[in-house]
Amino acid sequence: FRVPTPVNEPVKSYAPGSPEREELQRTYKELKSKELDVPMYIGGDRVFTDKKSPMVQPHDHQHILGHFSEGDATHVEQAINAALAAHDMWSNMAWEHRASIFLKAAELLAGPWRARLNAATMLGQSKNAYQAEIDSACELIDFLRFNVQFATDIYRMQPESSPGVWNRMEHRPLEGFVFALTPFNFTAIAGNLPTSVAMMGNVVVWKPAYTQIYAAHMIMELLQEAGLPDGVINLVYVDGPVAGDVIFNHADFAGIHFTGSTGVFQNIWKTIGNNIHKYKAYPRIVGETGGKDFILAHKTADAKRLATAITRGAFEYQGQKCSAASRAYVPSNLWDEVREYVVEDVKSFKMGPPEDFSNFINAVIDEKSFDKIAKYIDNAKESNEVEIIAGGNYDKSKGYFIEPTVLLSHNPTYITMCEEIFGPVISIYVYDEDNFEDTVELVNATSPYALTGAIFSKDRYTIEYASKKLSHSAGNFYINDKPTGAVVGQQPFGGSRASGTNDKAGSMLNLLRWVSSRSIKETL
Ligand code: NAD
Ligand code: ALA
Repeated sequence: FRVPTPVNEPVKSYAPGSPEREELQRTYKELKSKELDVPMYIGGDRVFTDKKSPMVQPHDHQHILGHFSEGDATHVEQAINAALAAHDMWSNMAWEHRASIFLKAAELLAGPWRARLNAATMLGQSKNAYQAEIDSACELIDFLRFNVQFATDIYRMQPESSPGVWNRMEHRPLEGFVFALTPFNFTAIAGNLPTSVAMMGNVVVWKPAYTQIYAAHMIMELLQEAGLPDGVINLVYVDGPVAGDVIFNHADFAGIHFTGSTGVFQNIWKTIGNNIHKYKAYPRIVGETGGKDFILAHKTADAKRLATAITRGAFEYQGQKCSAASRAYVPSNLWDEVREYVVEDVKSFKMGPPEDFSNFINAVIDEKSFDKIAKYIDNAKESNEVEIIAGGNYDKSKGYFIEPTVLLSHNPTYITMCEEIFGPVISIYVYDEDNFEDTVELVNATSPYALTGAIFSKDRYTIEYASKKLSHSAGNFYINDKPTGAVVGQQPFGGSRASGTNDKAGSMLNLLRWVSSRSIKETL
């Protein structure tokens, strides 16, 4: 059978006076005025505990959005048992019935749930309305709809037969349960990691980042409304290492779908390696991790276009996108013009809470991130290897606000040119305009990451040269565009090297990791 052909969900504008803006503002206010009591979800049950932890707004940290029930190792065990109990029912359910649950979830999100999940993302993760819309509405709807198409394509993948022989393949789910570990920065990733795995007939234990629980709770409620059977996805709020200790020691652990930092993923990989003899099968390890994403410009690039890519690529969602530009290489002939545009553009960015829709910059996620980013800025203030040409101020008295900050680095290997900062800071290195080829080498050598990158040039030879030389420096490579904003079904997303296993979210390549296929030969 055919599933509905997916098309990317149109982005709503939230223009002043539009009905969608009014609805979003109303929902935002309504949610802000309530204190939610958020449970875990195990085997379809809402599980409350006595240990209540606050959910706060990053832009107003004294304002409590509610409390979540924190669990412990026993809840993780219960979640694994609930998942395993659902395994046979779910994996045997005909594909069209499984698929329709996710298509229904997409419909609900495109309709009545849109404002609620966008408002939750604005409140809990401090995204402006546009950033919430492209993440928690459009990208998550796209993941749900396109993955149903990709899964259908996988189920259709069948081998050739020969006279007297019928060959076929069964694309079975994994034997056991899969662990989904999600980061704070994208609601769409929170929704995609457990659902893409479940779509292929697997059962899941899902643990979101603590700073993402507000949105994760809404996603779970949405999936339940869409008809997801009990136990297929179990959502727990347990300290990462505590959850990991139960999960990675379990014989039925079948795989991990992770997005987060490189260090955490590498430790998880080591733990899984040490425990490999405990598992029934080799677990699938899929992880999308950190980045040090670049913009490289050639002397023929358009200065205005380049400057806009630098400021938008670096400062949307306060630079907390894995794809955010955080180092740029600008040729000397363009620098004066680019500098002027960049500084002017940054000055025009308004900063404040997301309820004022004219604020482009909101707060960074929490105090730990704030302190880490502020330290990089302080170091830059004290260093003679770098100068601050825009921003540089921060204030955490009410919310975790950091000005978009542009550093001009005189040293191409100064720490801010090399390390992932994950905040509103970009470092720019100005190179001799005739040194393009050496600069390409520098881009490649400066960082262990390979997530996103962009080349700006009007010269086809240099575009081709950079594209080839930087072939393994970015899993998502952009030509004359900023390196953020990949769209499901258009730019499958993921990086290699220290940025991940490159299993391309939003493509069939990712879903293939969640099946363990059996070949059958029948002699007729
Ligand atoms: P993080 O690594 O701190 O956390 C990710 C998840 O792992 C969270 O659920 C967290 O609670 C859990 N965790 C943390 N320590 C753990 C441990 N010891 N054992 C088990 N679980 C543990 O990441 P974050 O701060 O939430 O997200 C930001 C990071 O994610 C950045 O490095 C960013 O580049 C990366 N990221 C990458 C992509 C991508 O597609 N490559 C996308 C989004 C975010
Ligand atoms: N889709 C997100 C981006 O490309 C990860 O910015």
